[in-house]
Amino acid sequence: MLSNCTILRYYYIEEKERQKGGLFFMQIPSLQQAEALLGQARNSNPGPWIAHSKVTADCAQRIAAACPDLNADDSHILGLLHDIGRGHGISGIRHVYDGWQDMNQMGYPDVARVCLTHSFMYQSLDSFMGKMDITDAQKDELTAALSKTQYNDYDRLIQLCDALAYPTGPTLLETRLVDVVLRRGCSRFTRQKWLATYQLKGYFERKTNQNIYQLVRANIGIEYAL
Ligand SMILES: [Fe+2]
Repeated sequence: MLSNCTILRYYYIEEKERQKGGLFFMQIPSLQQAEALLGQARNSNPGPWIAHSKVTADCAQRIAAACPDLNADDSHILGLLHDIGRGHGISGIRHVYDGWQDMNQMGYPDVARVCLTHSFMYQSLDSFMGKMDITDAQKDELTAALSKTQYNDYDRLIQLCDALAYPTGPTLLETRLVDVVLRRGCSRFTRQKWLATYQLKGYFERKTNQNIYQLVRANIGIEYAL
């Protein structure tokens, strides 16, 4: 039984499953609840990640609005909460684990899902760029959950928007990709991860038949040049 505060929305999942006639309900909080959760997290751990989350949400809403099979309002909520695990403090992969755990425990498995998948456009836990600040048991949990997840377009959308979202606004993928490497370093999967990110951009450009930078109104001027 779902709690009263859970909004049920249907969404069609990816093509293969849609062909089977699948109709699924998304379990996510309302916008008001999502904003309250983000506000609580900001009080616990203020930082540029809050503005980054809002930019991610705005990008997700704009791209989803151009996709007939995606819900723009739901996408906005998923974008707002994809990094909610950062409310526990400054962390590396722990923010993925904490967000995934918290959202599942609150009865929002579809938010938990993007908390888990947003950092893994290349679907391997070892591709994470940053501190592996979780226990071996927690790593095993995440590895198992990630490997059994079949990505849908909401996963892909938040992965792309996360890669577009500078705290000051959407920007070139190159700017964000390099920024992340400078802050967190590389992994042996960096090249694959970057390639996967460009593939995501191409995927949504074909899906929307629009240029993604124009769609999200990215600022690609010289003020973002490194
Ligand atoms: Fe993020």
